Amino acid sequence: MGFRVLLTHQLPDAALEILFDSGLDLSIDIAVQSLSVEDLHRACHNYDAIIPLLSDRITSSMMNNSRVQIIANYAVGYNNIDVDAARQDGIVVTNTPDVLTAASADLTFALLMSVARRIPEADRFCRDGKFTHWNPMLLLGADVAYQTLGIVGAGRIGTAVAQRAIGFDMKIVYVSRTPKPKMDEMGASRVAFEELLQCSDFVSIHTDLNPTTHHLIDETALNMMRPSAFLINTARGAVVDEEALVAALENSQIAGAGLDVFEKEPRIHSRLLQLPNVVLAPHIGSATAATRTKMARMAAHNVVAVLRGELRLNPVY
Ligand code: DGY
Repeated sequence: MGFRVLLTHQLPDAALEILFDSGLDLSIDIAVQSLSVEDLHRACHNYDAIIPLLSDRITSSMMNNSRVQIIANYAVGYNNIDVDAARQDGIVVTNTPDVLTAASADLTFALLMSVARRIPEADRFCRDGKFTHWNPMLLLGADVAYQTLGIVGAGRIGTAVAQRAIGFDMKIVYVSRTPKPKMDEMGASRVAFEELLQCSDFVSIHTDLNPTTHHLIDETALNMMRPSAFLINTARGAVVDEEALVAALENSQIAGAGLDVFEKEPRIHSRLLQLPNVVLAPHIGSATAATRTKMARMAAHNVVAVLRGELRLNPVY
């Protein structure tokens, strides 16, 4: 009997090409709409391999005594999957590291620049026909060059953001559980979390979401930031207490925020939508055509390797 593979969403064609060219006896289904909890439960019991999105929550009860051998997450983050339960059930979980590092770091910098230099406001100003004369006081923003960038989580993406910041002559500080030689070579300094919050002009989040980082940026943390500072989050929404962030922005406790991720994604806090000093994006950190294709390839290669009984290529445990 062949293997059954489910893609929970349409992906770049590269995924299907790799699956079809694998020589394995595969039957492949692609979900045509978002899968419910019940659908995902059934999927774990009816398929040998699943390629889910980060929005598909795969829980212990779905995986228990199921048929699925591999869950090849179409993302580098895998907080949507109960990895401990997968491990106990002998289910391989893989992700898509490295291939999206540059695109995610670029998007982080784009948000940082956009909120500092008020690009969305400027764009709206032009479209609204308000550009009638050059005005020395128009849309004054904040400097980026020579400012201090605080990187919370100096993994692959945090390090790539630091590399970009070097080009802007920024001073870089970071927090990380362990020293990061690559960061140190760039002249970045490892500091305590509180110090980072207090000294940074931009605080950029690059940690994964786990019980220790949930609401890491809470009211207390926001209170430690400078009133002139900006928060950038392209990691996971729930690392930031969104209610506290909204209050901090409304009360001018911080200057602004650039957000690609949200606590209750895809829902965005209604008051965030009202704030002019916030730049919002719909979780597009890795959204370049080339990057999404590489992610599709990687997820498909992981499926093929595991179904062939070969080494798992990008295991998360
Ligand atoms: C990831 O891969 O975890 C990103 O958030 C998706 O772009």
